[in-house]
Amino acid sequence: MLIFETIKSLQLYLSSFLGDNKIGFVPTMGALHQGHLSLIQKSIEENDVSVVSIFVNPTQFNNQDDLLKYPKNLSKDITLLESVSCDVLFAPSADEIYKNKLESEAFVLDGLENQMEGRYRNGHFDGVGTVVKRLFEIVNPTNAYFGEKDFQQLQIIRKLVEKTELKVTIHGCEIIREADGLAMSSRNVRLNKNQRQESTVIYKTLRKVKRLFLTKSIQEITEWVSNEFSKNAEMSLEYFLIADEQTLKSINTKELNSSCRAFIAVNIGDIRLIDNINL
Ligand code: PAF
Repeated sequence: MLIFETIKSLQLYLSSFLGDNKIGFVPTMGALHQGHLSLIQKSIEENDVSVVSIFVNPTQFNNQDDLLKYPKNLSKDITLLESVSCDVLFAPSADEIYKNKLESEAFVLDGLENQMEGRYRNGHFDGVGTVVKRLFEIVNPTNAYFGEKDFQQLQIIRKLVEKTELKVTIHGCEIIREADGLAMSSRNVRLNKNQRQESTVIYKTLRKVKRLFLTKSIQEITEWVSNEFSKNAEMSLEYFLIADEQTLKSINTKELNSSCRAFIAVNIGDIRLIDNINL
């Protein structure tokens, strides 16, 4: 695998793939797990060259402590990337990406940016949008791959690409879960043994929500979820809602002709986990 730290050296290498070649791209913040590897494998299958970026983007952290505690393990990441035969790793510094201006652009994305995570993590999606747009401009990929665990992020990136007319096709890929159902996330390594055990409640709740959705009202389901979490001393529910997949606006009555999803954010100690399920 080739490793580049500068934009110039990466672009020089990628210039040999201009023309009909397809460049696949998987942006990450490192601390790679099976979820990332599944995106990379898809990219490798569908493209002539696959680039993975590892960059812990400071502007998308609304909480400095979360940024400081974000897991980092570059040497393990490199071993994992080599194990799936990834072609290129781009691991830039903050200066390389932001020059001297560590600031986000402000994005207006039809209100998608104001729902859920946008409401609870001030400035988060401006940071994500800024870095993803910048990375797309640098890598100029044909295809880019994102996990559905961050479903709102995926929809926001689709909207960003539509609005900025960037020439990249966005692929959403299904959530990869641990055997007990916990959605894979870089943050999971921070859970202690007890928290890790408790965390399985998140997906169990979502599965039950999917069943309840057939017979109960959204209000009844929401009350049930809130009640379930109030019994749990280790965890606090930040939000649970059922929203339209396209607008991401929460809905109070079941809609016949549109797809919806249940979304959840939970704090376990100082670790924040999110998950979702289609209904
Ligand atoms: O999902 C992530 O890991 C990050 O938000 C992303 C897309 C790499 C941007 O920093």
